Order: sequence, then structure tokens, then C-alpha cells
Amino acid sequence: MSESAGFVSSVDGPVIGVAEVRGLAMADMVEVGEERLLGEVVRLRGSLATVQVYEDTGGIRPGEPVYGSGGPISAALGPGIIGTIFDGLQRPLDVIEAATGPFIARGAHVAALDPERRWELRPTARPGERLAEGGTWGTVQESPLVEQRLPAPAGRVLAIEAGTHTIGDVVARLETPAGERALTMAQRWPVRRPRPYQRRLPPSVPLITGQRVIDTFFPIAKGGTAAIPGGFGTGKTITQHQLASWSDADVVVYIGCGERGNELTEVLIDFPRLTDPRSGRPLMERTVLVANTSNMPVAAREISIYTGITLAEYYRDMGYQVAVMADSTSRWAEALREVAGRLEELPAEEGFPAYLPSRLAEFYERAGRVTTLGGMEGSVTVIGAVSPPGGDFSEPVTQNTLRFVRCFWALDASLAAARHFPAINWMQSYSQYLDSVGDWWHQHVAPDWRRLRDRAMDLLQQEDRLLQIARLVGASALPDPQRLVLEMGRILREGFLQQNALHPVDTYSTPHKQVAMLRAMLAFYERAQAIVERGAPIATLHQLPALGELVRLKSDVPNENLGKIDEVAHELAQQMDELESEYV
Ligand SMILES: Nc1ncnc2c1ncn2[C@@H]1O[C@H](COP(=O)(O)OP(=O)(O)OP(=O)(O)O)[C@@H](O)[C@H]1O
Ligand SMILES: [Mg+2]
Repeated sequence: MSESAGFVSSVDGPVIGVAEVRGLAMADMVEVGEERLLGEVVRLRGSLATVQVYEDTGGIRPGEPVYGSGGPISAALGPGIIGTIFDGLQRPLDVIEAATGPFIARGAHVAALDPERRWELRPTARPGERLAEGGTWGTVQESPLVEQRLPAPAGRVLAIEAGTHTIGDVVARLETPAGERALTMAQRWPVRRPRPYQRRLPPSVPLITGQRVIDTFFPIAKGGTAAIPGGFGTGKTITQHQLASWSDADVVVYIGCGERGNELTEVLIDFPRLTDPRSGRPLMERTVLVANTSNMPVAAREISIYTGITLAEYYRDMGYQVAVMADSTSRWAEALREVAGRLEELPAEEGFPAYLPSRLAEFYERAGRVTTLGGMEGSVTVIGAVSPPGGDFSEPVTQNTLRFVRCFWALDASLAAARHFPAINWMQSYSQYLDSVGDWWHQHVAPDWRRLRDRAMDLLQQEDRLLQIARLVGASALPDPQRLVLEMGRILREGFLQQNALHPVDTYSTPHKQVAMLRAMLAFYERAQAIVERGAPIATLHQLPALGELVRLKSDVPNENLGKIDEVAHELAQQMDELESEYV
């Protein structure tokens, strides 16, 4: 990268014009000026190019050289990713900070993966063996929780060297159709291009999150997509953190799109403190953070989601279940809008470029459960937070996101204000995976999961309608069977839908606990209906001592002691027997 590929002709914030272009292609990565700021060719017309620069361009002057890199922006894939906090350009934040102080220096060229660290390579293929593309040729224990399975190009193994090596060392040689190839433990992949796989698999396995309103009411499948839209302070970040901590993913990639300065700090401080509940080890041992600091220019946010999803696909290709969280895609879309404005692209809705929908689609389409090239099963699940201004879901980012995701967890400001958390509005939310994950629940948890879920949902819908009437005429004017529905709605809302992320027991419910809770609640309702029909006033049911316990199952009964739920149900049934005997 020494000979210049052109000269700066204009500077407009993150967008610079390049004249006298030689040997640059669309989407090529370039380095701009003497400081060698990182950028990407976004437009090419004859000998003129437009470059989007991912760093502060203050100080760049017309006439400075622009250098080509010979290829598109790519991510480094190899040992050393897990546990690292990267910026949008995959520069490790701690390394940059050590080198240049807390504010990222411009043109900071640091390696994505530590070039000096030594890793123990365990070969899994022998000399003479033929490997299919994507087959594993060696493994490296990257963290106590994640083992990297290094993907090979197609070819015949000539040699592999076990032992400890750096990622730059040549550790294997392969005979390929294109000639002999030397392999290191690392490789590069262009971030805007999806990594290939053999075939897509149906989204039939749920991602179990332990969050009841999600798993039971609006489930997401492994390899699925979901959006969490919500106004200011409605719980987007907490929900994402809960999913990162509790979901049964092997690897979590968390992309912080620079919501606000302090939000990023939240991520940087919170995540390293979280514990992986399954192993008791630090969550960072199976997590990668991609974080845009607020002092980085907007354009860097735009690339960060591609960097993040490329890292996710890399682990998918090793046969892992990967969950990607992006918080918030609205900030990413705003970056897109700002850059598009500078490029003088024709704006569409609310100033967003007309290609907003296709960019969103490209991101969410990289989710999926697949058979990898190497013949393993892996998945990338994508969960994006959206922050619509004023919490108004009719704005373009929310609306366009809805077109490409199959789960919609709508956060509601009035629920949040009433401290109903997670503030996922059960009347507005939906999941298109209900049918596809039903078999899994049937086989692994309970044959009646779907029936219980639909029954509970039906009662919540009835409650919603009755509440509207009650608002006009007063609840006491409603006949008792309808007041019982209101009572049942309260039990489901307070006892099932509400879940306190900060309570040690309530924070996570196993699938079995979710079903047991719902079964106990619905059993109460069926009995109560009969009793009310016989003339027992609602108030007598409301006063049953065990009813309070039914609503507290979520925090009183640990996941390991589900027998306690049956005890409560039994006690409640006895109390109802007594009540019923008074109305024969
Ligand atoms: N599941 C939950 N359990 C308990 N409290 C919660 C839960 N979800 C949200 N909260 C409460 O709501 C507050 C705001 O949540 P959070 O920061 O996640 O909102 P946000 O939508 O990300 O906000 P912003 O728009 O500022 O990014 C939290 O500090 C917490 O008090
Ligand atoms: Mg937030």
C-alpha cells in the first residue's frame, strides 16, 4: 500500500472525493491522507471516486494521497475474537486505548487479532487426508467456553504442525486444485458478503431465552430474526442483556451502535461483569462486543453491523448456535441517512435513503439455521433493537424492519411506566415461529404447550376487550363470568408475563417451569368458571389464600423444584373444593 491510488479532491465530513483514480474498485478499502484514515469506495465514476471515511476527516486537505488496499473491507477471523471488545472496524478497544489514550486516534492501525499471542493448535486432520471446503483441520481452545474449529479450503493435507503458534505462523500446507497452499490459523472475509453454507434448515428449534413472554408467547427460533422496538427507557437494552445472558446460544455477538455515550459505557462496564449462568464463568468467555464509541464518526457505525454479523457467521460455520444483538439499529439507520445526505442521494421517507429497506434486508437475511460447508449444523439468530423517535412505530426504520423480521416484541411506554417488565405488549407483538417450534416443545417439554399458550393468549385478548368496556361502564357492572376473565388476566399478567430481570429466581424460567406455571393458572381458571356458574361471587375466589401463591410462583419456586408448583395447584384446588361445597 505505498503507491497512491488517487488524490483527495474534496472533503465533506465523512465523505471525500478522490480524483485521478487508478486501480480502485467499488467497495474497496482505502487509506486516506498521510494519516491513512480508513475508508471505503462507495461510488466510482471514471477517474473520480467517492470514499466514505470511518474516522474523523478534520485536517485532511485536497491533494493528499489516497492508497488502495486491493480489496474490500474485511474481518480477521481466527483465535482471539472471543472476549474482545472491538470497534466497528474490528480494532480492539483496549489495544487502541493503550496505544493512543481513551479517544481513538485517527488512522490507528492495530491488528484485529493479537499477532504475538500463542495458541495451541490441535490438528484434527492427518497428512494425506482430503478435506472438503469448510471441513475442520484443527482446533484451538479460544476461551474456557469456546473451541475454535478452523475451517479449511478444499484440498489434501500435506502437513499440519501441532503445538503453540501465533496466528501469523504457517502451520499447515494443503494441496488444492489451485496449487499448494500455506495455512495459518487466521483468515480474512469481506464483511459485506455473507459467508457461504450448504443449505438452509427450517427454523424448528426455539432459542430458549428463559424469558416467559418470549419463549411461551412470542418465541424466536434458532436462526430466526426479531425486532425489539421501543421508545426511550422502555427496556430495549435490558431485554438484550437478558437474552445475551440467558439464551441457549453458544456464542453471543453484541453490537452496540452508539445509542448514546453513556449507553456504550453501560455495555462496556456491564458485560465484562456478567456471569454465564450455565457455566458460572464470565459471560465474556463466550461473547464478542462490537462497540462504536460516540467519538467515532457516524460512518463507522454503518460498517459495525457487518463486522459483527461476519464474526457471528464464522462461529456458525464451526457448528455453533450464535446470537447477534444489535442495539440500536435506529442509530445505524441514522448513520446511513447522514452519509447518504452527504452523497446527495435522493432521500425517501424522512430523509432516509431509498436503499434503507434493502440494507435492512441484507442484514437480517444473514440470520439462519444452516448445514455448514463442513457438514455441521449452526445458526445465527439476529435480534435488533429499534428506537423509534417518540415511540411511534409508524416511522420508516420500524416499518421497514417489520418487513424483514419474523418476530416483533413491541415495547410499550405505558407498560414500562406502570413498571410492567418486560414491557412487551402482548396485544401488539407477534411471532411467526409459533408453528415451526411447536414440535420441539411437544417433544422436549410438554405435548400441551401450544394449547396452553393459545388458551392463555385467548384469555388475555378477552381481558383486553373487557377492560375497554369496563372503562366505560365500570368493572362492577360486568357479569361475574366476565369479571373472572379480568381476574384471570391479572393473574397471567402479574404472575406470568411480568418478569423481574433483577430477581435471582424470576430472571430465568426453564421451559418446564413456564409450562407448569401456565398449567396451574389455567387449571385455576377452569375450576373457577364452574364455581362462578354455581353462583359464588368473584370476591370469594379472589380471597382464596393460595391464589396469591399462584401469582408468586415465578419468584417463589426455583427452576429445580417444580414439584412446588403442583403443591400450590393442589392446595388451591382444595380451597376451591371447599368453596364449591358452599354452592351446591
Ligand atoms: N425485565 C426488566 N426487569 C426489571 N426492570 C426492567 C426490565 N426491563 C426494563 N427495566 C427497567 O427499565 C429501565 C430502562 O430499561 P433500558 O435501559 O433497557 O431501556 P431502553 O429502552 O434501552 O432505554 P433507552 O431508550 O434509553 O436506550 C431499566 O433501568 C430498568 O429499571
Ligand atoms: Mg437502551
